[in-house]
Amino acid sequence: MEARGVCVAVSILVFCLVLVEPCYGSVLFSSLKKTLDVTASPKQDQVLLAGEDKITVTWVVNNSLPAGTNSAYKTIKVKLCYAPVSQKDRAWRKTEDNLKKDKTCQHKIVSRPYDASNKTVQSFEWRVEKDVPTATYFVRAFAYDSNDVEVGYGQTTNDKKTTNLFGVQAISGRHASLDITAACFSAFSVISLFVFFYIEKRKGKASQQK
Ligand SMILES: *[C@@H]1O[C@H](CO)[C@@H](O)[C@H](O)[C@H]1NC(C)=O
Ligand SMILES: *[C@@H]1O[C@H](CO)[C@@H](O)[C@H](O)[C@H]1NC(C)=O
Repeated sequence: MEARGVCVAVSILVFCLVLVEPCYGSVLFSSLKKTLDVTASPKQDQVLLAGEDKITVTWVVNNSLPAGTNSAYKTIKVKLCYAPVSQKDRAWRKTEDNLKKDKTCQHKIVSRPYDASNKTVQSFEWRVEKDVPTATYFVRAFAYDSNDVEVGYGQTTNDKKTTNLFGVQAISGRHASLDITAACFSAFSVISLFVFFYIEKRKGKASQQK
């Protein structure tokens, strides 16, 4: 019975991880074309105070691209993303090519409908939210189609993510509490797995007694 329980749990895990995820039309970042020109106001290495300082982001579809590049674009979402230096040894900020799993860009700045007939550079002023942890960041924008699937992107930094990086200084004490939250979530998922095993085992015993 125990072996069966383990088997069921492992099968479900494998099914979830291997089969289900790709079924949901996951997009690889490496497959996206860089079509948006994105800028952000902070200077290289400038440090902004969370909850106080503002940044202005701008975005526009690069007009030197072939006509029709943006025909499927419906929404533009602009996000604040961790630079590699702030991802090191932090699995919860890890970059994954599969955008469903990618944790690089966790803080939403703005989401706007995209109007292909409007060639004006779009801009948005954003106050760095209070829950943004101390780290080094850049800004990335994604273009989405009508199914809310990523179809293009642009970012303020270069491909290696070494230029135009800026810092955020959290409200003191916040950083630690956020990290603890992340650790708790990881622990929670491990505990869930054990609970699942336990329930399966109980079920197995119950059916044996009948
Ligand atoms: C726009 O696209 C062209 C051609 O791909 C590229 O050379 C240029 O650098 C892009 N402009 C910006 C501002 O990224
Ligand atoms: C184009 O975008 C600009 C900047 O967001 C906006 O002010 C303007 O009203 C838009 N024009 C049209 C025709 O929607």
